[in-house]
Amino acid sequence: MTTQRLPMQGQRILLGISGGIAAYKTVDLARKLVQEGAQVRCVLTESATHFVSATALQAVTGVAVRHSLWDEGAEAAMSHIELARWADTLLIAPATANTLAKLAQGIADDLLTTLALATRANLVLAPAMNGDMWRHPATQANLALLQQRGARVLDPDSGCLACGEVDVGRMQEPQVIVDRLSGSRSEQMLVGKRVLITAGPTVEDIDPVRFIANRSSGKMGYAFAQAARDLGADVVLVSGPTALPDPVGVTTIRVRSALQMFEAVQTHFVGIDFMIAAAAVADYRVEQVASSKLKKQGDGVLTLTLMQNPDIVAWAAAQPNRGKVIAFAAETENLIAHAQEKLQRKGVDAVLANSVADGAAFDQAQNQLFLISADGVHEFPLTHKSQLAQQVLAHLASTYFNCGCLR
Ligand SMILES: Cc1cc2nc3c(=O)[nH]c(=O)nc-3n(C[C@H](O)[C@H](O)[C@H](O)COP(=O)(O)O)c2cc1C
Repeated sequence: MTTQRLPMQGQRILLGISGGIAAYKTVDLARKLVQEGAQVRCVLTESATHFVSATALQAVTGVAVRHSLWDEGAEAAMSHIELARWADTLLIAPATANTLAKLAQGIADDLLTTLALATRANLVLAPAMNGDMWRHPATQANLALLQQRGARVLDPDSGCLACGEVDVGRMQEPQVIVDRLSGSRSEQMLVGKRVLITAGPTVEDIDPVRFIANRSSGKMGYAFAQAARDLGADVVLVSGPTALPDPVGVTTIRVRSALQMFEAVQTHFVGIDFMIAAAAVADYRVEQVASSKLKKQGDGVLTLTLMQNPDIVAWAAAQPNRGKVIAFAAETENLIAHAQEKLQRKGVDAVLANSVADGAAFDQAQNQLFLISADGVHEFPLTHKSQLAQQVLAHLASTYFNCGCLR
């Protein structure tokens, strides 16, 4: 009889849990890691003990949980240096702003940060915090430094935070973290590939204070940029105005209008392996942008003349010797039929179609996509945009570059 080898069998994961509200999800995270075959040991910071029960973590991992350097019994059984050497991955989830700052500075004033300095294990960070803490230049600088030193950052998701705000800062879902760790064999499927992604809305000025824009938040495009980066690609993200921070490790070019986006795409298009055009580019711009604020007209009617913007995707599809071009279609009705028509009309390799009827997709944390190509229609069911982006990229990599697929 042969026993099936589990995806994470043989992996030794030290799960460091710091004091964010998302710590409550770590019982599920630890359980999922164990189910995938990993050996898991948990270390809590003092703050984390307020958010998650060591007893529950011990129950799912089968190993005593540590939270103090000064636990004589635990040190006698396995010293913190032995524990640091035991691990092949140090996963810190959630990673608080405070713990990230300590890691960046090499501070070792508790068990978790001491282990982080003492270990040679791969460091994987799943930050979680309030959106302002995440965007703070100190946090972003700490993350950039940690990443330069080789840490892998699983960028937080957007959605409803514990503080009640809808913002970036949610820890990635346990299943997403597990998929990222267990997918290491396919992690490198886009190494050496150059990927261009457009995201967000474009903004077309009317006068110095008014503009025409659309409801795109950029979340889907940014999720693609982060997922492509995590799969080893060299990523350029051309983004219209969004509230999202530049993804770490991605070359991000900020633009405002469709014309500026077109210029940036033209600059970066040569030599790419594929482009995912997730931006919601304005079809029209105002012909004459007023140089001073328009005043109310006496007759109650204001007429603006709009002229068509260049079609960025059609331009990309028409380039000779190009990489693969994947367009997006956001439709309120007849989703698949419209996307099939777009595939033909624009001459792209595939269209990712999402329904935007009844408030779906735009600014939501989750989405559902249909990939329409000459091969037919492939559905990616509703899930978090980060997970969705991974699944789509894995599919594209296996279709176009013959790489193995993520599960
Ligand atoms: C209810 C509550 C929730 C918190 N959630 C977070 C969080 O999600 N992310 C974060 O960085 N800090 C959060 N904090 C603040 C941290 O707990 C605080 O910065 C602490 O010093 C972190 O210590 P540690 O990094 O050693 O675990 C929260 C604090 C409280 C009281």
